[in-house]
Formats: sequence, structure tokens, C-alpha cells
Amino acid sequence: MPTIAIVGAQWGDEGKGRVVDYLASPAGGLGKAADMVVRFQGGDNAGHTVVNPLGEFKLHLVPSGIFNRGTQCIIGTGCVVNPETLIAEMDALRAAGVSLDDLFISTRAHLTLPYHRQLDGLEESARGGKAIGTTQRGIGPTYADKAARWGLRTGDLLNLDRLRERLAVVLPAKNRVIDHFGGEPIDLDTLIARCLHWAEHLRPHITDTLPLVRAAVEADRTVLLEGQLGVMRDLDWGVYPYVTSSNPLASFGPVGAGLPARAVTEVIGVVKAYVTAVGAGPFPTELTDATCDHLRRVGGEYGATTGRPRRCGWLDAVALDYANWLNGFTGLAVTKLDVLDGLPELKLCTGYRLPSGEVTSRMPDPATLGTVEPVYETWPGWERSTGNARRWSDLPVEAQRYLHRIEELTGAPIRWVSVGPEQGAMIPMM
Ligand code: GDP
Ligand code: IMO
Ligand code: MG
Repeated sequence: MPTIAIVGAQWGDEGKGRVVDYLASPAGGLGKAADMVVRFQGGDNAGHTVVNPLGEFKLHLVPSGIFNRGTQCIIGTGCVVNPETLIAEMDALRAAGVSLDDLFISTRAHLTLPYHRQLDGLEESARGGKAIGTTQRGIGPTYADKAARWGLRTGDLLNLDRLRERLAVVLPAKNRVIDHFGGEPIDLDTLIARCLHWAEHLRPHITDTLPLVRAAVEADRTVLLEGQLGVMRDLDWGVYPYVTSSNPLASFGPVGAGLPARAVTEVIGVVKAYVTAVGAGPFPTELTDATCDHLRRVGGEYGATTGRPRRCGWLDAVALDYANWLNGFTGLAVTKLDVLDGLPELKLCTGYRLPSGEVTSRMPDPATLGTVEPVYETWPGWERSTGNARRWSDLPVEAQRYLHRIEELTGAPIRWVSVGPEQGAMIPMM
């Protein structure tokens, strides 16, 4: 049975939640329900939208396999967890009739605490005109504390004496920085009271998740590793400094979940049929014209976490080739094909013209990326709606050609094509 990493191939919001929900469901592309879904990095900066028979959900921390009873859902060690957001999300899921019996949170996942959120906002302001445009969820400060070994972990919620001891050391140091940036210091007793509240709610779910993951893989079960964001915002390989503070690449999946690298048998790159980005930084194929308006309006391109309008542009095959090299896709899931319906022609970026005039099909460093001009090939669009297509043969020939060109330029086969947000609006490739 496979262990499949499902990761974003672009600037995030490719439809990872939608694809994981589909693949994890009994009627989905794997022919049976997934046994386990593990979120392996990121925190509540994620906004993974799922539309299925139970309703519409925007998941920030809970893995997108939660809608199947019996699928174990793990918030992995590589994640950072804001208990406040998580509890609210769990309450909303319970209210919609979703069972959380199989939700587990790694004791090793770091806690995003109120001072992290505050510092994210203050640091962004201090960057002046060079703000990253973070989600302001405290992600950078939490991962920074993890690396600097100032962090507290969800396991600390199980030992409140220890937690109190740690906070008594860490909080004054954080408050000095908050004060330096002109923020409001946080009171130790108030924070500890909050921690008690979180511990009460989350205790039944916090556990050492390694034995669960190990047992699933050793028993040859179907395990999905759900990525957050996409390669172009990867801490090491993205458009630094306009990146997140973790690694959305598939190769981080085993680290964040607790698996040997060789356990991953498949890597599915989720590719939106065009590109969107939220936040600042280079985005060569960005549009500001009527096509951008079409994509934003028809695609509903507003951030699932912050509600910000997403920047929209043409598909970038240079970035996809780069994503394929870094991730080693065994297959692709192309989403939002239906959003392109009715556009008279489509452009596909196959190269970047550098300031020297030279054209390259390889990803340059981020500073250079901000200076390139995209080189496009043009493909005919299609008039017909694709939203009801459920087989390859239902698609207009122009759409088939466009998809084949994506496969060719990316170097990986398309396994699924999504033509709507609902769970069933998916075309499996035979
Ligand atoms: P994620 O962060 O990668 O999970 O993606 P988001 O949920 O942030 O953004 C994807 C958006 O597109 C959500 O609103 C989905 O409901 C929607 N979506 C996903 N697949 C399709 C599709 O094939 N067609 C359309 N029209 N919408 C889709
Ligand atoms: P999903 O998982 C889109 C972007 C922010 C900013 C940068 C750093 O739904 O695809 P951070 O808050 O992580 O420090 O912000 O990354 N960003 C996302 N963009 N989708 C997301 O998640 C994102 N998570 C962070 O806009 O540019
Ligand atoms: Mg999203």
C-alpha cells in the first residue's frame, strides 16, 4: 500500500485540501479510504478548502482526511500548532457532525502562542516597505523559536508545572522584544490560565504520534502526507525572503511525519491550471488585466485564511519544472481547469527572458526572478463548460491539448483533473 505525499507545486492554494479529501474518501481516486492523513509542516497559515457531502470547510490545522470515520488524522511533528485556532476549528467540525475521535496531535509539534502572533505583526511593520505579507499567524516567530530552542511544544501542555517553569523564563525575554517594537507585553498568569484551558480541551488528542505512523506504514496501510503551501514559498528553495518558515517540499514529509525517506512511494504535485499567490515577492506571470479579473472572480481567488485577494497569473511551466525537480512528482493533480472555461486563449510560460536578453527555462535565484520577463506560448481556449466533465473524453479537445502540454513541460503524468470544488468533480486519468 502506498505512502503518498500530496504537495503544492506553485505558490500555495493549489487545491491540496480538495485533492486530499478526494483521495482520502472511499469513492476517491485510490479505490478505498485512506487509513491515515498526516499534516507534516506549517501551521494555521494554511487554508485548505474542502467541499463534500458534509458541507464546505476551510481547514487550517486539522488534516483534510478528517471527514472519513476511521481515517486517522495526525497533526505531525513538523507542524506548529496554535491551540486557540485548533480548538475553534475542532468545535466547528464537531458542530457539523464530524467525529474527532481519530485526531491526534504530535507531542513534538511546537506551540504558536499569543506572543508569536503579536511578534509576526510587529516584525512585519518593522520591515517597512519590504513586508513579506505574512498571514500574521505567528508562523515565522514560532519556527524561529523552535530553531533557537526557545519553543514550547504541545507535549508541554501535558505537564503544566514544566510549562509554567518554561514560560517564566521565555515570556520575559519575549516581552522585552515586544516592548522594543512598541507592542503590548503579555501577562504570565493570564497566559498560564489560557494554557490550562487549552490543555483541558486538547489533552485527549495529544500523543506521541510516531508509534501510530510507524504501525500504519509497517502494516502496509494507505498513508497520505498532506503538504501546506507550495514550493515557491519553501524556506530554502522559494522566493526568499518572501517565503514561509517551513519546507513544503515532499522531502520534508518523512521528517515532519516521522518516517524514513524511502517510505514515501508516490509524490503527487497539486497544480492549479493557472497561478495564484498571496503576499509579496516575485511572480513572473502575474496579470493585472481583465484576465486577472476573470480568474479572481470565477476562481473565487480570495485567501482562505486572510480573505486577501489573491494575485493571479498564467501557468508557469518553468516553476513547474523546478517543482518537479525538487519534489520528484510521480503524478500531478491539476485543479480548477473549469475556471479557464470561456477564455479565448491561454498563455503558458515556457521560459524567462533575463535582463541580458538571454532566455532560460531554468529557475534563477529569487533576486533575478524579480527581473525576468515571461516568454509565452499561446494555446486556444474553449467555450464549452468543463464543470460537468467526469471522463477525459468529456473534455474539449483544446483542454486536452493544454493538459498534455502541462505534462510535457512538467515532466510528470497527470493522474487527476479537477473541474469543480466538490469532492466528485474530478476526472481520473486511466
Ligand atoms: P489549498 O490551500 O491548496 O488547499 O487550496 P485553497 O483551499 O486555499 O484554494 C483552492 C480553492 O479552489 C478553494 O476555494 C477550493 O474550493 C477551490 N477549488 C479546488 N479545486 C477546484 C476546481 O477544480 N474548480 C473550482 N472552480 N474550484 C476549485
Ligand atoms: P495553503 O496551505 C497561500 C504565504 C503568505 C506569505 C508567505 C509567508 O493554504 O496553501 P507565513 O504566514 O507563512 O509566514 O507567510 O507565505 N502563505 C500562503 N499563501 N497559501 C497558504 O497556505 C499560505 N501560507 C502562507 O501569504 O506570502
Ligand atoms: Mg489555501
